[in-house]
This record gives sequence, C-alpha cells and structure tokens, in this order.
Amino acid sequence: MYLSESSIKKMPHIKRLNIINSVSGIKPGNLIGTKDKNNQTNLAIISSVVHLGSNPPYLGFILRPDQNVRRHTHENISENKQFTINHIPSDFIEQAHYTSAKFEKNVSEFQKCGFTEEYHKEFTAPFVKESKLKMGLIHEESVPIKSSNTLMVVGRILHLIIPEISLSEEGYIDLGVADSVGISGLNAYYAVKKVGEFPYARAEKTPEFNDKKTKFTS
Ligand SMILES: Cc1cc2nc3c(=O)[nH]c(=O)nc-3n(C[C@H](O)[C@H](O)[C@H](O)COP(=O)(O)O)c2cc1C
Repeated sequence: MYLSESSIKKMPHIKRLNIINSVSGIKPGNLIGTKDKNNQTNLAIISSVVHLGSNPPYLGFILRPDQNVRRHTHENISENKQFTINHIPSDFIEQAHYTSAKFEKNVSEFQKCGFTEEYHKEFTAPFVKESKLKMGLIHEESVPIKSSNTLMVVGRILHLIIPEISLSEEGYIDLGVADSVGISGLNAYYAVKKVGEFPYARAEKTPEFNDKKTKFTS
C-alpha cells in the first residue's frame, strides 16, 4: 500500500492516528517515576525516550502537552527536578499500559496499577521495584518543539541500576536478557530478542553488498 500526504489527511481520524503512531517502529517501553513537593508519587508509561549523549550521560523524552488535561509528570519534574526511567519488564505490560489512564493528581499509579515504590540513596524520585533496568535523572532542561507543539524533557543520569546477568565485559547490555519490552503505537507490546551484533562500522572494513535499487509506484 502506498499513501501520499493528501491520502493520509483524508483518512478517518483514528485510523490515521494509529498508522502514524506506529510508523516510527519499535520504541522503548519505559515508566517515568516522579514525585511532587507534597510527596505525591506519579508513574506514566512513555515510549519516546531517546539517547542524547554519553558524556555527560543525557537522555530525553517527548511530552505531548494536552490543553485540556494536566500533565502530572511534567508538573512534578518542574517542581522536584528529578525523575526515574524504568524499563518495563515483560510480565508487567498490562499494569504499565494502564498508567496512561488519566488519574486524579492525588491518585498514585504505583498503587493503582500494582507497582512498588523503591528509593535509592538520597534520590527523592521513586524507582519501580519490579523494573530490572532503571535510572535516576536530574532535570537539565525542557525544550519546546514548535512544529509539533511538544516538549523534549532532557535529564542527566545520576544513578543507574543494571541486572548483572545482562551486562557483558565490554559494557553491552542484552535487552532481551534484561527482559525489557518494545512498544508500537499506543497499545502494542513486543518482546525483545537480539538478532545480530557487528563491530564499529569503518568505511575501509565494510563488506561488499549488492547495489539494489527499487522505485516506489503509487
Ligand atoms: C504505549 C504508550 C506510550 C506512550 N508514550 C507517551 C510519550 O512518549 N509521551 C507522552 O507525552 N505520552 C505518552 N503516552 C501517554 C501517557 O502515558 C499519558 O498521557 C499519561 O496519562 C501521562 O501521565 P501524567 O498525566 O501522570 O503525566 C503513552 C501512552 C501509552 C499507552
């Protein structure tokens, strides 16, 4: 199937939303843990976490502000300057999914969706006990993206918890062994399995591949 910009525009709203939400491929499945100044905790599923740099270690995620609904995650990060990113373990995908429901501010998704708060050192933002790979970050900045009316929330990693069994001598993490999951769109969850591993790609050491070209037709 080929879709042009104008045919995408003409599609029924929900179908267009579902297609466009899925075309970026598998995204990482994470839960963002936060707390406000009154110690009220919040947990939200987020699939847009991206790597922004390794030294210092920066990660970002995209928040889609809603004109009609308060976004507790962003309010709490603005107040407390800390948040946690917790990989979703495969046996908790349903609980993780329901953290996206619009609960009242005084209701914690930890309690409502069956997750346990966990705290590390003097860090005040809550980690998810059930998550095996997790990190605690300090908020660096929130960058508005004008074209899509979204915000990129950027944080620096202060604490990192990795299951030893998933970590190689060289520092590679096998996300399949860590039991992390992938997300497509806003409702589909995928198991993760490593299917290849290659050395750093150098022009002079690139294998010969066939030169195949395909023309798209409508
Ligand atoms: C699979 C999935 C992925 C999601 N990813 C994002 C995301 O990357 N950014 C975002 O702003 N909302 C995302 N959401 C929606 C939030 O989880 C939802 O708006 C939640 O209520 C936010 O919580 P809060 O209001 O407590 O901050 C996602 C929802 C689902 C089900």
